[in-house]
Amino acid sequence: MTKKGPVIGVFDSGVGGLTVLRELLLQVPQADYLYFGDTARLPYGSKSAETVAKYAISATQYLQSHGAEHLVIACNTATAMALDAIVRATPKNISVLGVIEPGAENAAASSKSRKVVVIATEGTCNSHAYQRALLQRGVEAREKACPLFVPLVEEGWTDHSVTEQVAHLYLDDLFNADFAAADALVLGCTHYPLLKPLLRRVVPANVAIVDSAEATAKCMAVSLGASDGHSIEPSVKFFATDSVEKFRRAGGKFLGRNIENVVHVDIET
Ligand code: DGL
Repeated sequence: MTKKGPVIGVFDSGVGGLTVLRELLLQVPQADYLYFGDTARLPYGSKSAETVAKYAISATQYLQSHGAEHLVIACNTATAMALDAIVRATPKNISVLGVIEPGAENAAASSKSRKVVVIATEGTCNSHAYQRALLQRGVEAREKACPLFVPLVEEGWTDHSVTEQVAHLYLDDLFNADFAAADALVLGCTHYPLLKPLLRRVVPANVAIVDSAEATAKCMAVSLGASDGHSIEPSVKFFATDSVEKFRRAGGKFLGRNIENVVHVDIET
């Protein structure tokens, strides 16, 4: 890779984190990127914190050994369950940014009622990482695991009537009782940004939809400072632990463009 800016390693359990990379490419175009999708070991959302930490540390070490100077933990579940363990296992000269603090910051900034709803995987919800991050900002959160959304998005059913029905089942009861005044919905999973138009139809019109991917990219842009005006496209190299072909096919819709340069990684060796 010809170096022309900082090298950012982006890690996710699979292709979902490409929604974060997509935002990074828009907001931090002066960097070069390494993207690691642990497709052989996903989903992380239903695994224990110990397992998620072990997987995430091996993946981020792989990114470091390939030159990453900054790490973005694009996976909400890995951020929720293993961010501290990843930071402890990472040399101090490499920065580590998860998606939860930026997402919580954005939600807190957009909520007037100080009540928000967070949707995420089982693992993220059970960790209550979003709830804690929001409470620190004076905002109460109701968390709801929506495990069917990940397979539905991977199936490409982002605008399907079945997905809309599932969304109603998950969300219709959330904006009531103590949370009737909730005015923000945090998308606490890499896959959910693809459901934004559908979710817009399902949640009350006054509810702001907060995308952790956008918030994280903004945070990275602020910490790296303004672009120095490079006109060259950022280079991106992809690593996947399962089929390269599958990654390329599935990843395109998350990234919003065709994917080349995928290298297969056998992480066990
Ligand atoms: N990337 C995960 C997240 O953002 C969703 C997919 C998985 O469960 O591995 O929580």
